[in-house]
Amino acid sequence: MERRRTAVLISGRGSNLQALMEACAAPDASAEIALVISNRADAAGLRHASAAGIPAETIPHGAFATQVGFENAIDRTLHEHGIALVCLAGFMRVLSPWFVERWRDRLLNIHPSLLPAFRGMDTHRRVLEAGVRFTGCTVHMVRAEVDDGPIIVQAVVPVRPDDSEESLAARVLEVEHRCYPLALELVASGRVQVVDERVAIAGALAPDVLVLNPASI
Ligand code: GRF
Repeated sequence: MERRRTAVLISGRGSNLQALMEACAAPDASAEIALVISNRADAAGLRHASAAGIPAETIPHGAFATQVGFENAIDRTLHEHGIALVCLAGFMRVLSPWFVERWRDRLLNIHPSLLPAFRGMDTHRRVLEAGVRFTGCTVHMVRAEVDDGPIIVQAVVPVRPDDSEESLAARVLEVEHRCYPLALELVASGRVQVVDERVAIAGALAPDVLVLNPASI
């Protein structure tokens, strides 16, 4: 099967981009990372792309008079590169409804919480303040609302009593790097269908386990 040409949009570090590139380097991967777009010229993730020989473009949002102009430039670049799927990976610009609609069910995002809880910024700080026992990450189809849309993959991570924002972020990031490649593979291989704004995954099994936190007293 033809591999789905996928673009990754970043603004910074690019560790999820790196995880996606590594997974897609497997000979049987259903997706190919064919383009990286950053809205910041100084995004460290751009170096991952060039090290892997993947075309990378900087489209600085500040260079456009309007948001639509910025998004049109992204859209045009995606089409020029024959892109079929788009992954947002630490892309720090909110995309307008028209753009989201144009890429409906072909536009994925990762968020470091168990959505729909803790949408938005400063996720780990708010998780710690709320005192929840579990957090995690979510890969979902993008909709017009921020961090909203049909959920493809989630992973659960325990919150420890001595966690700082940094330690929690690091624990969640580890599972992000497993979830995003899994979600992209599911979508690119055609196993994901969005029905009534919920994702159905052909042939997928759900875990049948009970986890407690604290584990014991
Ligand atoms: C990740 O935590 C992701 O969930 C969030 O932004 C962060 C990006 O990290 N949306 P990286 O640039 O992929 O390392």
